[in-house]
Amino acid sequence: MAKITVSVIKADVGGYVGHCSMHPDLIATAETRLGPQKESGRLIDFKVLCCGDDLELIMTHTFGVEDEAIHRLAWDVFVECTETARKLKLYGVGQDLLKDAFTGTIKGMGPGVAEMEFEERKSEPIVIFMADKTSPGAWNLPLFKIFADPFNTAGIVIDPSMHEGFKFKILDIRAGKSITLSCPEEMYDLLMFIGSTGRYLVKDIYRKTDGEIAATASTQKLSLIAGKYVGKDDPVMIVRCQSGLPAVGEVLEPFSFPHLVSGWMRGSHCGPLMPVSFCEANPSRFDGPPRVIAAGFQLSDGKLVGPRDIFADVSFDEARKEANRVANYMRRHGPFEPHRLGPEDMEYTTMPHIMEKLKDRFE
Ligand code: 13P
Ligand code: 13P
Ligand code: MG
Ligand code: MG
Repeated sequence: MAKITVSVIKADVGGYVGHCSMHPDLIATAETRLGPQKESGRLIDFKVLCCGDDLELIMTHTFGVEDEAIHRLAWDVFVECTETARKLKLYGVGQDLLKDAFTGTIKGMGPGVAEMEFEERKSEPIVIFMADKTSPGAWNLPLFKIFADPFNTAGIVIDPSMHEGFKFKILDIRAGKSITLSCPEEMYDLLMFIGSTGRYLVKDIYRKTDGEIAATASTQKLSLIAGKYVGKDDPVMIVRCQSGLPAVGEVLEPFSFPHLVSGWMRGSHCGPLMPVSFCEANPSRFDGPPRVIAAGFQLSDGKLVGPRDIFADVSFDEARKEANRVANYMRRHGPFEPHRLGPEDMEYTTMPHIMEKLKDRFE
């Protein structure tokens, strides 16, 4: 069987109400546009989901990653959904579409992209994570735990095919360079970089025994494309599971800790990442707190059997409670750091304009 490509491409083309949620008409527009692509056989399968105000296109096909036609299709879907959003006068119409015309790849145009190509195994469980009111650095901590922390992933200790560890491809988004580090030997080097979640992002993870791809994350930063604040780069990632890769439960376990991430309210605040069911992914309190959903699928010859709404489980109730408690605690800092983000992250917001007005008053 030909290799399968899973493409997850997402954009915010208009929020309902404000930045809280998704209007059903946008999902319907996307489904209507993608349906014929499946009938014609260009797509093997697709699902349209949402997390907060972000529209998530999940597509399977055989054209490989960064395929121009698939990227153009996603772009056209977002443009059409923008028209639907315009008619409803939703908030931030076309927010993440930063360029006017498609030029070969959707990368660098605003939408977030996570794609991987692999040979489908006898059974191929995958989990697609989608988050709102945060940024790609939010994945660094859970990805480290899933693929490098033996207290999280028993398989690293127990399963011979994982025992040698994983390679992490890291992107330095300021320098536009990447480095691949090997775990466990280079774990401390890895942590030195990825602990700095605003600059170094985990892009891909490979199993060391055979180089098999295990995970991939979107790393697009809207502010670096637009040069100003235009909304947050709410990220997605794809993780393959089981049979020599972390079990589904090991992949979910890190999210029982609602770690602090940046991107809450005006993309300018830090708060806990709350794991929620699909229907609870409507960040409304201070436009948050940041949310993450997990859609589980079994692939069957590229067909997306699912989604299973994985965080719709009582075992994540405590994480949600803790996230609410941490949200209360963080909120009490108001405009003070570390609730408000540090100066480098505020560079791209509207705050420097206000500072500019007062610059002559400094003596
Ligand atoms: P596999 O090695 O078959 O993935 O089993 C691991 C497992 O599911 C334990 O929870
Ligand atoms: P989004 O990036 O999800 O549109 O959020 C923007 C924002 O600033 C919400 O306060
Ligand atoms: Mg928005
Ligand atoms: Mg969003």
